Amino acid sequence: MAKKELKLHAVVSPTETVVVSAYDETGKAEACTLAFYMVSSHIPPCITIAINATQRRKTLAAMLQTKAFVLGFPSIDQVKEADYLGVESGYNTDKLANIGYSTSEAKTVHAPVINELPLSLECEIVHTVTVGSHMQVTGEVKRILADESILTDKDRINLSKLKPIIYDEEQVRYLAVGEKVADAFRTGMELKKALDGGKDNG
Ligand SMILES: Cc1cc2nc3c(=O)[nH]c(=O)nc-3n(C[C@H](O)[C@H](O)[C@H](O)COP(=O)(O)O)c2cc1C
Repeated sequence: MAKKELKLHAVVSPTETVVVSAYDETGKAEACTLAFYMVSSHIPPCITIAINATQRRKTLAAMLQTKAFVLGFPSIDQVKEADYLGVESGYNTDKLANIGYSTSEAKTVHAPVINELPLSLECEIVHTVTVGSHMQVTGEVKRILADESILTDKDRINLSKLKPIIYDEEQVRYLAVGEKVADAFRTGMELKKALDGGKDNG
């Protein structure tokens, strides 16, 4: 198939839309929406977010001061609120109060858990590095708080119940998670076995 070279840009499509929250120096809960989010370690569990450090971000300033944040996962029925938290700044107003969201202090770190979000990770900042326009902030996950309604009977997170908001930067829109297409680690293993079986190892 013919290939086309594209204009350079950060290809982030698709990512999960998350809301990061932190206390400012007066104890006010700040929050903003992020699409630059990744899992960065299994042991200990760590996640990394990237926040634009060339622009004023109240939530970044707050989390750098407290060395902590909470990462919240909204579901698709909260898309309007999640988008609002990404288009308004805590420098101008109290965003969480405006949308009627409440917070509780996290148990393991000094940061606010947004009660209305179905899944929250309490994180202690363990590393920061600035690459280009964005500061990458790595948080070690100290506690995971999930609504019972999004769990399987084995207490795993069920994405069909969480209904995370997928952000599509290419077309500037939000999507829902789609259907299961295969079992991970099994589909490729079946192909590997078939290929290995067909090999003459002698
Ligand atoms: C869908 C979406 C994704 C976003 N992702 C990021 C991101 O990954 N990094 C970032 O620095 N800003 C991101 N933003 C922008 C911030 O959320 C926005 O600048 C916000 O107003 C900052 O608020 P604050 O000043 O209260 O912290 C995103 C906004 C939206 C709507």
